[in-house]
Amino acid sequence: MTDSRIPTARLGANGPEVGVQGLGCMGMSFAYGPPDAAASRATLDRALELGVTHYDTADAYGAGENEKFLSPFFKAHRDELVIATKFGLAVHPDDPTKRIIRNDAPYIRSCVEGSLQRLGVDVIDLYYMHRRDLDVPIEETVGVMAELVREGKVKQLGLSEVTGDELRAAQGVHPIAALQSEWSLFSRDIEAQVVPAARELGVSLVAYSPLGRGFLTGSFANADQDLTADDFRRQQPRFTGDNAAANGALLEPIRTVAKAHDATPGQIALAWVQQQAEVHGLPVIPIPGTRKPTRVEENTAATALHLTEDELALLEPIAAKVAGDRYTDMRFTSAGRE
Ligand SMILES: NC(=O)c1ccc[n+]([C@@H]2O[C@H](COP(=O)([O-])OP(=O)(O)OC[C@H]3O[C@@H](n4cnc5c(N)ncnc54)[C@H](OP(=O)(O)O)[C@@H]3O)[C@@H](O)[C@H]2O)c1
Repeated sequence: MTDSRIPTARLGANGPEVGVQGLGCMGMSFAYGPPDAAASRATLDRALELGVTHYDTADAYGAGENEKFLSPFFKAHRDELVIATKFGLAVHPDDPTKRIIRNDAPYIRSCVEGSLQRLGVDVIDLYYMHRRDLDVPIEETVGVMAELVREGKVKQLGLSEVTGDELRAAQGVHPIAALQSEWSLFSRDIEAQVVPAARELGVSLVAYSPLGRGFLTGSFANADQDLTADDFRRQQPRFTGDNAAANGALLEPIRTVAKAHDATPGQIALAWVQQQAEVHGLPVIPIPGTRKPTRVEENTAATALHLTEDELALLEPIAAKVAGDRYTDMRFTSAGRE
């Protein structure tokens, strides 16, 4: 394994250069089975050695636990990192097992203080609205976020799962550095409206779940059978039952391309997302999530791959054939509101 550092990309029109691949830290505390703190710490260290400088978390990942877990690493390397976190998914007042979406000013203000305190830093480099509360105009939400920039609590603003029109409205209030949405060989709905809007506005695209939450690597085939009872992927329609079986068959062309590059299917999935930067003409920064140092090596090595036109053509039909939605309730995604 080479120790050469990965290339960089710009995060926002006037933002910092970051490693062209970031690290998704959610699974270190939440959603994807039992945490392994020692392996996760080693993963963070290895990622930084390889040039990963942009780390993604959210206050909702384990009700603050993920931010707390990351704090010692962030504090030890503060000047080398871009720290991204999010607000917007609140605990339901009557049922702590459920979530509601909140974008109102008092809520945002309490969230930013909570995140700063848990992260143990003076400023958040990139602060995202995680999900859109449809009862609050986006201009109002971004107006509050802009105040946080003026107050020095936050450096840059981001939005997750907004439509192209919502992004335009937001940009009218304050520059948006990054739009974070799901983008992978299995999830391409943002290409119709969101990606063109981001390109037009000079917004960088941060691609979450670029490995299709692990499914594209072949690390699980059916969430019901292969994953623990509390794993979030058991709630995602495309990973269970007949859908999972049908979707497994779609991995074949990815394996074919992987063989040609002496690479893994996961590396081809990441290379495909990365290459969308060229295809669509905007900065694209995938943030694959892993808790294993060897996997961060494998994933970052994918930044050196380049797929041919023929290979892109072979992979092109996959997304349209995927059975099952990304989420049970698509209203809170950009595709669900377009
Ligand atoms: N804005 C949003 O609404 C939103 C939604 C979801 C996620 N995110 C962010 O995006 C990040 C990445 O997305 P994600 O974690 O959902 O999905 P992902 O990156 O597509 O896949 C992560 C899964 O793949 C496995 N994996 C990673 N590298 C692998 C490899 N080389 N070989 C085999 N398996 C591998 C991981 O397992 P191990 O950990 O065991 O390696 C994990 O289960 C998250 O961490 C989070 O920060 C944001």
